[in-house]
Amino acid sequence: MDFLNCLAILVREPSFIHKFNKAMYNSKISGLGFFVPDNVVTNDDLAKVMDTDDAWIQERTGIKERRHVIKGEDTTTSMGVKAAKIAIERSGIDKQDIDFIVFATLSPDYYFPGPGVLVQRDLGLPTVGAVDVRNQCSGFVYGLSLADQYIKSGMYKNVLVIGSELHSHGLDMTTRGRGVSVIFGDGAGAVVLSREERKGSGILSTHLHSEGQYAEELSLIAPGMGKRWVTDILEDNDPNDESYYPYMNGQFVFKNAIQRFSEVIGEGLKANQLETKDINMLIPHQANLRISQFVQKKFGLSDDQVYNNIMRYGNTTAASIPIALTEAWEEGKIKEGDLVVLAAFGSGFTWGSAIIRWS
Ligand code: UT7
Repeated sequence: MDFLNCLAILVREPSFIHKFNKAMYNSKISGLGFFVPDNVVTNDDLAKVMDTDDAWIQERTGIKERRHVIKGEDTTTSMGVKAAKIAIERSGIDKQDIDFIVFATLSPDYYFPGPGVLVQRDLGLPTVGAVDVRNQCSGFVYGLSLADQYIKSGMYKNVLVIGSELHSHGLDMTTRGRGVSVIFGDGAGAVVLSREERKGSGILSTHLHSEGQYAEELSLIAPGMGKRWVTDILEDNDPNDESYYPYMNGQFVFKNAIQRFSEVIGEGLKANQLETKDINMLIPHQANLRISQFVQKKFGLSDDQVYNNIMRYGNTTAASIPIALTEAWEEGKIKEGDLVVLAAFGSGFTWGSAIIRWS
């Protein structure tokens, strides 16, 4: 086919140009929102039901208070829907224009189906696809990465990405569970990821990792088909059974977290030929204030370059990054053209980063 014939096809068939261009898109966050329940639980409140105290919790984690859903008032899905409504409104798109749903959580309403389809129903969306992400604290970064690939490929224009967690109903609120229970809080965050035509804007890259040999170091193993199903728990009827509460090897997780956070931020910067000084805002998953501070120091970032809100919400797992990102944006700390870095580490182990040129 000679040059003139090619040109003739392009003129007659504009969709050919579109198809050719598919791989050329980026994605950008066009809207973002969060929701946390009103019920504030302080460290002193926890000290009333278990052997702990405000000084220990603040010193080891930075947490002053967290939110807990009052039973019956919200679910993981309903909080996600509330956050999503705000994100959709701010994106300026009609909800009918959402092409796909990604929902990251470790605390779904049901064992199955996952919450993605419940969002499709409760938001009254067309029968778009919905996928559930099971990557715990890294869930939002994994979800964002998935959504980014769908948009980059040209398959979808607008993808709703939600991270939501309702931890409080599943925690061991006795002294036995204090090493875990004081850390986690409830809440949800959401973004709409939309097609970005400009080069060098929006999500520049995402970087994902896993190391399953440490799966049980931060885990909730029952009920599950691998070791203990509900019937086993009921049959045993053992008051000392801890298998249906989350387990965390705290110090081991901490050590791995500071290493992997640093690696994956460095990996993202390098992939884009960027340096630490180029970061305008780092939003680390809110695992522990001491972890965020370690990473901040390692990269030589100022307080203005790192956003933390674990003091007010605790660790909300898949919701922590979209909640912090939304708050930072609402406070005017993220502006057009800024380099925003998201980084997460958690159960799996899984970890990841996203490098974003805000637009
Ligand atoms: O988001 C996913 C990733 N998660 C993380 O990255 C979390 C990483 N780990 C951590 O943040 C920390 O390891 C924790 C905050 C969980 C624990 O802090 P730590 O400094 O590692 O404390 P520890 O587990 O070594 O416990 C020290 C002591 C123990 O007492 P003994 O054995 O020294 O007498 C615990 O029993 O503190 C005790 N302890 C508590 N005391 C008061 C544990 N939990 C509590 C508590 N209140 N809530």
